[in-house]
Amino acid sequence: MSRLSGKVAIITGAAQGMGAAHAKAFIEQGAKVVLTDLNEEKGKAFAAELGENALFIKQNVVSEEEWATVVAKAEEAFGPVNVLVNNAGISLNKFMLELSLDEYMKIVNINQVSVFLGMKAVAGSMAKAGGGSIVNISSINGLVGGAVGYTDTKFAVRGMTKAAALNLAHMGIRVNSVHPGVIATPMIMQEDAKEAIEEFAKHIPLKRVSQPEEVSQLVVFLASDESSYSTGAEFVVDGGITAQ
Ligand SMILES: NC(=O)c1ccc[n+]([C@@H]2O[C@H](COP(=O)([O-])OP(=O)(O)OC[C@H]3O[C@@H](n4cnc5c(N)ncnc54)[C@H](O)[C@@H]3O)[C@@H](O)[C@H]2O)c1
Repeated sequence: MSRLSGKVAIITGAAQGMGAAHAKAFIEQGAKVVLTDLNEEKGKAFAAELGENALFIKQNVVSEEEWATVVAKAEEAFGPVNVLVNNAGISLNKFMLELSLDEYMKIVNINQVSVFLGMKAVAGSMAKAGGGSIVNISSINGLVGGAVGYTDTKFAVRGMTKAAALNLAHMGIRVNSVHPGVIATPMIMQEDAKEAIEEFAKHIPLKRVSQPEEVSQLVVFLASDESSYSTGAEFVVDGGITAQ
């Protein structure tokens, strides 16, 4: 039997990178998936490739109103929502003293506030479904320091995950965070960064970066009933980086 059969999932930031890999893995495991992203052209084309169990909805994850629309449309298309993967995010690697307040608030809104809005928007639908699983994508920078702004938001996601897990447990909703290391997605594999990443990979215990699909395996586990006793927990997928 497929690991996610009968599940309805929303995955944000699913037009490319890890979100797209998660959507593909979910569909392969029998789920019906609403993919959302700001990038309508890419998201629509990818959902069409995935077939009838995929639906793309354009969404800016910082808008509370758009969250309500996404959940309503997901229910209309596939029924009450069982799984939410809060994956959409941006990175910003800038020296702290050159970071403006506008830039800082932009990353806080997209990486952090969106996670709060998503969990709040979906909880009622999950209750209707008899419970659910929320997977919040943090980072190893939710465990150890990195760029100011990005690190702050990823620590916040880790903390918010634990607080929400305690809040939502009585509704049968589990909430966990995922902490990827260096994953080969468009976010990091830009032409001018490739050499630096190859150099960095030499210092990763497993001596390589990860493919997005390797993170999807963990996300499928957390979305499925296989992880029925895990909530408020941190799941690291980093090739050993934070073990050093
Ligand atoms: N790639 C890595 O090495 C790495 C490591 C740790 C954590 N992460 C986290 O994993 C998640 C996915 O990263 P990725 O590497 O696949 O990134 P990516 O840049 O390849 O994809 C992110 C997607 O999010 C979408 N997005 C951005 N802002 C949005 C908004 N306001 N509303 C809706 N969609 C929006 C983008 O359009 C894009 O399609 C992010 O939260 C990121 O911080 C990435």
